[in-house]
Amino acid sequence: MVNTKVNLGGLEMATPVATASGTFGYGTEYIGAVDYAKLGAVTAKGIRLEPWPGNAMPRHCEVPGGLVNAIGLQGTGVEQFLSITVPWYREESAATAGRSVPLIANIWGGSVDEYAEVARRLGDAVDAIELNVSCPNVKSGGHTFGQDPAVLAQVVRATRDATRLPLIVKLAPNVPSIAPYVAACEDAGADALSLINTIPAMVIDIERRVPVLANRSGGLSGQGIHPVAVKLVHDAHRATRLPILAMGGVFDARDAIEFLLAGATAVAVGTATFSDPGVVAAVHDGIVDYCIRHGFSSVTELTGNLAE
Ligand SMILES: Cc1cc2nc3c(=O)[nH]c(=O)nc-3n(C[C@H](O)[C@H](O)[C@H](O)COP(=O)(O)O)c2cc1C
Repeated sequence: MVNTKVNLGGLEMATPVATASGTFGYGTEYIGAVDYAKLGAVTAKGIRLEPWPGNAMPRHCEVPGGLVNAIGLQGTGVEQFLSITVPWYREESAATAGRSVPLIANIWGGSVDEYAEVARRLGDAVDAIELNVSCPNVKSGGHTFGQDPAVLAQVVRATRDATRLPLIVKLAPNVPSIAPYVAACEDAGADALSLINTIPAMVIDIERRVPVLANRSGGLSGQGIHPVAVKLVHDAHRATRLPILAMGGVFDARDAIEFLLAGATAVAVGTATFSDPGVVAAVHDGIVDYCIRHGFSSVTELTGNLAE
């Protein structure tokens, strides 16, 4: 019998497998298609204070080994999330899983104050908050919050002061070294890190000589980014004691186990769910099977357990 429980910075997860924000709707859309009993947490699509329309279409494009998307954070605002989405999720997910499956709210904003206000309004309606810092800081000329350790620290600190929930900060992959960003999050009061978000990317229609996406560029996700994500998780783990939720091209249990050995406490399945929702259960079962084959009684023994 393998103990699959993990603790992600105060978030108790019955299994180490979560879903990645933006790839699993608001958590109810996959009922009937995914075995929720095998999920340790569901991360909802990103929300800000007000509803947000996202970018013009076309806003996604398949490429070899991945998907480039520029959805532009389309989402319901925090009020609809609280009044409709959360109660609906709680009822439906508990009924299908036979237990409560923790819900992580993924939040973003155009200013530090907006992040803090969304966190404040969420109260204790969700089980954890994940900050998406890969969005433009409107007040400081549009640079993303996650691209400057000092700004990152500000947003984490302000959100920390606004919530007692486990606070997960989702790091951007396109930085020269992850260590200063990890340190900024740790010092500012984060409970956990998640990585990676999508990698900036662009696709061109050579016949029309125009970018395929209306937004011109987007973010790459899927199998092609997995080795990049493993390296960043490994580097982040060496730089911190904070637990890590790893994502980026998890398509099977092997990908997930790589993340755990690199230093992750839990993993999230994202783009893979679009082509096969069954990946979630297969990843869970494959991790358990690996533990049995290698004599580990608890999934926690895998974290950072590289033979060096
Ligand atoms: C269509 C789409 C929408 C996404 N929306 C969000 C979002 O709202 N907030 C966020 O933090 N990440 C978002 N992401 C990033 C994913 O959560 C994840 O970090 C990334 O896709 C890497 O994992 P994957 O390769 O398994 O998809 C989105 C990704 C995709 C493909």
